[in-house]
Amino acid sequence: MNKDSNNSVHGIWGSRWIFILAATGSAVGLGNIWKFPYIAGENGGGAFVLFYLGCIALIGVPVMMAEILIGRRGRMSPINSMAKLAKEAQVSRRWGYLGIIGALAGFLIMSFYSVVAGWALYYVYKMASGAFVGASGETAGGIWQALTSDPLTLLGWHTVFTALVVVVVARGVNRGLELAVRILMPLLFLLLILLVGYALTSGAFAEGAAFLFNFDASKLSTDAALVALGHAFFTLSLGMGAIMAYGAYMPHKVSIGSTTLVIGFLDTLVALAAGLAIFPVVFANGLEPAAGPGLMFQTLPIAFGGMPAGVLFGTLFFVLVVFAAWSSAISLLEPAVAWAVEKGFKRWVATVAVGIAAWTLGILSVLSLNDWSGFKVIVNTPNDWGLFVDSATWQALAAACTSATGQTWFDFFDYLTSSIMLPLGGLFIAIFVGWVMKETHVRKELAMGNFKLYLVWRAVVRIFSPLAILLVFAYSTGLWKPGETVEVKAGAECELATYAAMPEGEAVAPVMVTPASDVPVEEIPAQESDVPVLEEQQ
Ligand code: TRP
Repeated sequence: MNKDSNNSVHGIWGSRWIFILAATGSAVGLGNIWKFPYIAGENGGGAFVLFYLGCIALIGVPVMMAEILIGRRGRMSPINSMAKLAKEAQVSRRWGYLGIIGALAGFLIMSFYSVVAGWALYYVYKMASGAFVGASGETAGGIWQALTSDPLTLLGWHTVFTALVVVVVARGVNRGLELAVRILMPLLFLLLILLVGYALTSGAFAEGAAFLFNFDASKLSTDAALVALGHAFFTLSLGMGAIMAYGAYMPHKVSIGSTTLVIGFLDTLVALAAGLAIFPVVFANGLEPAAGPGLMFQTLPIAFGGMPAGVLFGTLFFVLVVFAAWSSAISLLEPAVAWAVEKGFKRWVATVAVGIAAWTLGILSVLSLNDWSGFKVIVNTPNDWGLFVDSATWQALAAACTSATGQTWFDFFDYLTSSIMLPLGGLFIAIFVGWVMKETHVRKELAMGNFKLYLVWRAVVRIFSPLAILLVFAYSTGLWKPGETVEVKAGAECELATYAAMPEGEAVAPVMVTPASDVPVEEIPAQESDVPVLEEQQ
């Protein structure tokens, strides 16, 4: 980076390509390879994927342009850029709080992101040891189980990854990153293509592809819509200032629009390739598409185990996944660190402090997979909801009320950030650029050659994106219900109070009586009773 007094105090990217590489490095990560396939699996595939692609194109890309624009005009950390531009627009500097919430979101994401990246590190070692040669679904599942049930191993790899990220951010994000992204990202993509090639021979490619691309929009549940929207933000690193922070280091002459399109395109390509690599293996081996966060770790090793030179390719693949995660995680910490630097802290002091805090919080995610897997931060039933539900209570509730859902700390951090903080951040960023900033400034910064296209973008950022985000929120909370809906009336088996006072050790479903029929609930499977069940239950 050149230091230039007209530019950011943190330096400027050398060229347009380096910005594209860094931003793509931020965007392409675990979100594409690990998260996208597993949430597509959990949410039924096709309809979810279509909605997700729509969110990327119609909300993600325009909002990314808005974020880069704020960053480049502000030339500071997201917090100070927002405050500075708010002042320029003669509105309250409190808009800077948006940056603070963003920095907080990045820190929360980092806490569990580095746990997942830790899994990938462990798989580098497992792959290299040849543990997956000729592996069946059962072998792969066993290795996954063994890892996740061992908190100390998880903690160890979580620590290694966090340290890797802290080292880079402490030295300034440009060093090493450019090289890593320029060489390793294309390599990662090549390996994904290789995996898709393998999937073609698996015998279930058509089934896998159909799962991903058979768009049946009527299958989109209320939850799935919000998950898809949230993931569009997550995968493009939007809504918390990461891309804004990178935008602050972007040279003046570079076109924001075309750059954003490149990033959005590459990011989507990687996600779809990962999906096409994973789902054929799922179906060929009779695995469960809705396996959850372990999906990639339980499927791809089978593919590598079955191909020639699989140990080599498999090891390389997980090394590259770690690099992809690493170039993303850097951007999770950068907004908070850049702000602390502007406050006068030394860069390394700020980075180590934020890193240690995120690492500590990550321990909760580590324990979510094993010792504390029964503890739920939030529980939802058709009747009510509750916070901090202990394991015994949860098990009794879940056994009797099949439609109850509960979130561990890991699930909770993911949900809070992806489904709430990022879309809300995106909403306010769109409002800020669309309604608060002076249009002349926005137009100058964007410098779009095509005026009509600019008008379309402006309408999207001012009206369409905010409205769409609000509608998805309303839809997923049940405030807005298009079409017919079914009233959900579950009985006492779905009321938390029924279980709340249960002493430890009685983690069995109590025999209960439904108010209407005096018949023990357990004798009536929920779906067959005359109690209407949740329509969009997955
Ligand atoms: N986009 C990255 C991924 O898909 C994760 C990420 C990096 C991120 N920076 C972010 C997500 C900022 C949200 C906000 O893996």
